[in-house]
Amino acid sequence: MRIEKVAVLGAGEMGHGIAENCAIAGYEVWLRARRQSSLEEGMKRIREGLFKLQSKGMIKDANEVLGRIHTTTELKTAVEDADLLIESIPEIFEQKFELFAECDKIAKPECIFATNTSTMSITKLAEATKREDRFIGMHFFTPVVIMEIVELTKGEKTSEETLKTCIEFLKTLKKIPIVLKKETPGFIVNRVVAPTSVLRLCIIEDGIATPEEVDATYRKAGNVIGLFELWDYLGLDVVYNAMKYYAKALSPEYEPKYLEKLVKEGKLGKKSGSGFYDWSKRPEIDLRKATDRVDVRDFVFLEINEATKLVEMGIADPKTINTAIKLAYGRKKGPFEVAKDYTDEEISKRLEELAKKFGKEIFEPAETIKKGKLRELLKNLD
Ligand SMILES: NC(=O)c1ccc[n+]([C@@H]2O[C@H](COP(=O)([O-])OP(=O)(O)OC[C@H]3O[C@@H](n4cnc5c(N)ncnc54)[C@H](O)[C@@H]3O)[C@@H](O)[C@H]2O)c1
Repeated sequence: MRIEKVAVLGAGEMGHGIAENCAIAGYEVWLRARRQSSLEEGMKRIREGLFKLQSKGMIKDANEVLGRIHTTTELKTAVEDADLLIESIPEIFEQKFELFAECDKIAKPECIFATNTSTMSITKLAEATKREDRFIGMHFFTPVVIMEIVELTKGEKTSEETLKTCIEFLKTLKKIPIVLKKETPGFIVNRVVAPTSVLRLCIIEDGIATPEEVDATYRKAGNVIGLFELWDYLGLDVVYNAMKYYAKALSPEYEPKYLEKLVKEGKLGKKSGSGFYDWSKRPEIDLRKATDRVDVRDFVFLEINEATKLVEMGIADPKTINTAIKLAYGRKKGPFEVAKDYTDEEISKRLEELAKKFGKEIFEPAETIKKGKLRELLKNLD
């Protein structure tokens, strides 16, 4: 199927970037938001982004690209002749479901529906439509124009043809599609780090360390950004909604009580001016606050563990998971490469300690690690 016209629904952090990226690749784009002010804000960001790319010689003519982006608050105008629709509205299931049901009545029968959800079931969202075979998860990363990785996830009824068309489409956007063998909450990239979200909240809730102490320790260990700093950057509402979804779909242990308080106070991180940090200027983490009350290896072990559980569930192979994590977080090594530095016994023992200390079953070691068989997964990685 040939894609010429793309409808992007939602003009926020992700929607504006997706529209910009599609227009750079030569597609006619209809960007839709409910409010004119959201469209204006989105277009302002697109314009700034495109002129920056032009000044760096990465695109020839920003105005030419801008000419391919049309805006509307009318759903029908955006969707009626689209070949591909990419939804990027807030991470709230009911809102997405309702929007897809409405679009299904307006869009051409052959139009492919893609959702940029970070966590949710593609199969369940597809049920809003009568085109479950032409419905797919297309998960971009921020900043969209820069990040190469996109996770592609089929729902139970998504056709191979839809997947193929979307792979080809993403290649024209100069993206690297990471295809999951089947869906799971959080897909690969967000899911591998999901238990570390619970751990970092346990650490501050139990008064073991402050967010700044955690971040200083994490940065001192060679990471480019602190864990709470990153959350503030992504948006605490986005993180909160994701954890709420995991609490429902995976385990109540993901319930983000601490974040709920901040979100209700309107502290959403960088975008609202404050979160864990004050964002009136770029927060500076004082590395002298690094503490041995926080062991960075705990986060590493939890990632290896969740990655192993994904392999056990048949979501993806170790090589694909390594690639996804390296692309998404700009790391040199994926979890299965890092795992080579530790013994199964060492990882298993520490995970059991963490599970017991914080009373979290989700920290329990994967069967493969418990049985000392992680080495078998580490073969054929190169
Ligand atoms: N922020 C990230 O880092 C990130 C990364 C990958 C995926 N995602 C996912 O992308 C989606 C959007 O996230 P975001 O960060 O861009 O959110 P955002 O809050 O920045 O933007 C959402 C946009 O949708 C608009 N909107 C709200 N309800 C709408 C509706 N019913 N119909 C049409 N437009 C509506 C809002 O006005 C806003 O412009 C979410 O599913 C999120 O999980 C976010």
